[in-house]
Amino acid sequence: SEIAPLARAKNLHFGSAFYYRDGWDRDEYEKHFLDNFTILTPEGGIMWGEGGLSPAPGEINFSAGNEIIGFAHENDLAVKVHHLVWHRYVEGHDPFLPQWLLEGGYGSAELQEHLKDFITQTVTHYTEKFPHTVQWWSVVNEAGANNFSGFEPNLWLDSIGESYIDSAFVWTREVAPDEAKLFYNDCFYHGTAADGQRMEHKIDHAYDVVSGLVERDIPIDGMGFQSHLTVVGYPGKEAIAADFKRFTDLGLEVYITELDVALIPPVTQKQLEQQAKIYRDLVNIALENEKCTMVSLWGFNDAQSWYESDVAPS
Ligand code: XIL
Repeated sequence: SEIAPLARAKNLHFGSAFYYRDGWDRDEYEKHFLDNFTILTPEGGIMWGEGGLSPAPGEINFSAGNEIIGFAHENDLAVKVHHLVWHRYVEGHDPFLPQWLLEGGYGSAELQEHLKDFITQTVTHYTEKFPHTVQWWSVVNEAGANNFSGFEPNLWLDSIGESYIDSAFVWTREVAPDEAKLFYNDCFYHGTAADGQRMEHKIDHAYDVVSGLVERDIPIDGMGFQSHLTVVGYPGKEAIAADFKRFTDLGLEVYITELDVALIPPVTQKQLEQQAKIYRDLVNIALENEKCTMVSLWGFNDAQSWYESDVAPS
């Protein structure tokens, strides 16, 4: 059975990351995508530091994004783009910032110019090339620290200070069309702890950050919860619904932006049932909160999940 018509009937944006990996017939992959999802998120291809995307200051290669967003555009799927501002550097893997930026020794003012330029070019390019297609922008990703209540040190924070977040939203809003929603995205449920790892201090911090944005009239429309869960580390439906409610009570929309439920080998029938239950719970949380308008998976095939990649948490 196909999910897309059910989602449309419920007014729920139901999506997935799009990232074609070998081992699946391309046409089948695309058909499966269109049958089941109403929105698409390019899993990669748009972030600043991805292999060669920005070889030099001011230069951006849009070809990967054009291909994926073009596919969505041709098929009338709305798109959510990840991420305009991210900083992650994973040892042994491409950083999510370009080499020239990391090594340029730039001061705060120059960094702000480069960041504004990347945001402006990216948002303008995809908006003009594919009108009415990108409906959500993940403006700032993973600003919070996992291990304490605060921001994780990063290039932007260290040099510009916390105001880089305000600026990123303002710069995005200047060029994004009114219909596009801007959101703050982070990961709050994680890990394989048997009792479920719900990073409460991190949620509290994000709540403070986002309420600050709202109070200062910074243009933000929503809060994105990544929701990378595991079958053994599940905080439970009530806890997650209550977390979302804090943010929707601020007047924001909430988006489940990167939902996946990892199996922990050896895989048992019980695990598969728990996995299905967790997906069901998350969809129900969205259906029960009218301001939680999106459930978007981080891939739809366990065999081709990013968990197989070298950037996944171990
Ligand atoms: C992962 C992806 O699956 C990769 O393909 C990508 O290029 C980078 O890493 N939190 C996020 C996502 O916000 O962008 C990450 O995606 C997974 C964790």
